[in-house]
Amino acid sequence: MTPLRLAVLISGRGSNLEALLKAEAAGQFDASAKSLNSLAIALVLSNHAEAGGLQIAKAFGKPRAVLEKPAFSSRSDYDAALTAVLQQAQIDWIALAGFDRILGEPLLSAFPGRILNMHPSLLPKFGGKGMVGQAVHQAVLAAAEQESGCTVHEVIADVDAGRVLGQARVPVVLGDTPEALAARVLAQEHLLYPQAIRSHVLGLL
Ligand code: GRF
Repeated sequence: MTPLRLAVLISGRGSNLEALLKAEAAGQFDASAKSLNSLAIALVLSNHAEAGGLQIAKAFGKPRAVLEKPAFSSRSDYDAALTAVLQQAQIDWIALAGFDRILGEPLLSAFPGRILNMHPSLLPKFGGKGMVGQAVHQAVLAAAEQESGCTVHEVIADVDAGRVLGQARVPVVLGDTPEALAARVLAQEHLLYPQAIRSHVLGLL
């Protein structure tokens, strides 16, 4: 069977992308007795030409694309252009991995239930507009939470509100800084994302 084609969308350093590429290289997305389907990372797309993740994609020999948003274009014009690039590449599934844009129409309708995102908190806590990067971990510490973690979820129009597909938890420790907490959470992201994609897309545990 032809592999399902996954596009990974990035904006920056690409450590989650790297985790997905390593999982693919290790055969975690291969077909097996339990799943006739396999999944191939067919495209890495960034909205910033200088994103470090593009170098990682290059090292893995993956097709790359850059689609920056021209200053004059509207959000829906950008999303239409993005949809066209993804459809041209015959993409079936999309994994957001640190993509710093909120997605809307016509992209969401073109890939219904087929866009996944990694968020660095235990959603529904600490999600929504503005809850990105260090702001998330600062908010977790300010709220004196005893644990945090990461969530893989479906992308819908409401930010960070789609169906939760998987979570991993980490403790918050005494004297934690946002940086230390972010690093602890990130290590779990790298384990959870390939696992959640494998189980949700291919039905494998
Ligand atoms: C991660 O913390 C992820 O949870 C969030 O953006 C960050 C991306 O990091 N959505 P990287 O580019 O994968 O290293």
